Amino acid sequence: MKRIAVLASGGDAPGMNACIRAVVRSALHHGLSASGVLHGYRGLIEGEFREFSTGDVSNIIQRGGSILFSARSEAFQTVEGRAEAARNLRDRSIDGLIVIGGNGSFRGADAIAREQGIAVVGVPATIDNDVWGTDYTIGYDTAVNTALDSVDRIKDTAASHERVFIVEVMGRSAGFIALEVGVGSGAEAILLPETPTDVSALAALITERILNGRRSSIIICAEGDENGGARAVASELKTVHGIDSQVTVLGHVQRGGSPTTSDRVLASKLGWAAVDALCSGAAPCMVGEVSRRIVRHPLADSWTFVKEIDTELVKLAPLI
Ligand code: F6P
Repeated sequence: MKRIAVLASGGDAPGMNACIRAVVRSALHHGLSASGVLHGYRGLIEGEFREFSTGDVSNIIQRGGSILFSARSEAFQTVEGRAEAARNLRDRSIDGLIVIGGNGSFRGADAIAREQGIAVVGVPATIDNDVWGTDYTIGYDTAVNTALDSVDRIKDTAASHERVFIVEVMGRSAGFIALEVGVGSGAEAILLPETPTDVSALAALITERILNGRRSSIIICAEGDENGGARAVASELKTVHGIDSQVTVLGHVQRGGSPTTSDRVLASKLGWAAVDALCSGAAPCMVGEVSRRIVRHPLADSWTFVKEIDTELVKLAPLI
């Protein structure tokens, strides 16, 4: 192993820069040269490579987003696209590739590894935390804290105006963000894709609170909740139960901002672990952290197995 490349793919996540920094610094420490690929898999196909020195990754550990940009690429979903990408790597004598991203990005990584024999290591980064094989993904902790800060602010106005708020947090198909934000904010109800949502029961809960003189309520709703998100729940509350509510969709604010300490440390560890996996011939694989230990798994495990939310916390949430 002499030359490696790193790219960020899919939805950006806070801490990606800390990971890129760790990859470049670890590679140089091992005597390897390190290139960054701009615009994810698209840049891999279009040949957007930049050779990096330590200076190129200085002063980025605290920055949100990705200095390499991030993108989703349709071309990379084709065999031809992946063949072109592999050609670009070989033309530059790059023998190892590190992909920072989520499940979708790992599928692409697995495909180019199988078809083209490229040594690829995946580093899990997505605010959704929905990658099996690691306790946490890079970006999740920051997103939860960003969302929680917003909900705390909403609680002030909800209490003052005695209103019901339904706050939608990200999580396309997983309720990790919603569950922790809901518990952390002391929400009255948490609506998750993993558990059935009964809007009639929610209406009864809100009505009972109003009868008890508690006119404000906070409901946290994951965007992937099976009812179709906060707007759909608010509409059913109004049309079927006559209950007014305000909707706040936090959206992409959760993807930005300076990463928390936990995300910077996780990103740094996993960046180092990815280079280590390449150097020790473990690729193709993904790296993760489970119970504070660095682990390696086949890339396909990350989407074959489903990472479960904390079901004990789901049960406890209404009581605490
Ligand atoms: O996967 C991360 C995520 O932020 C999801 O929570 C969200 O559904 C999706 O990406 C949004 O993607 P885009 O920025 O492409 O709209």
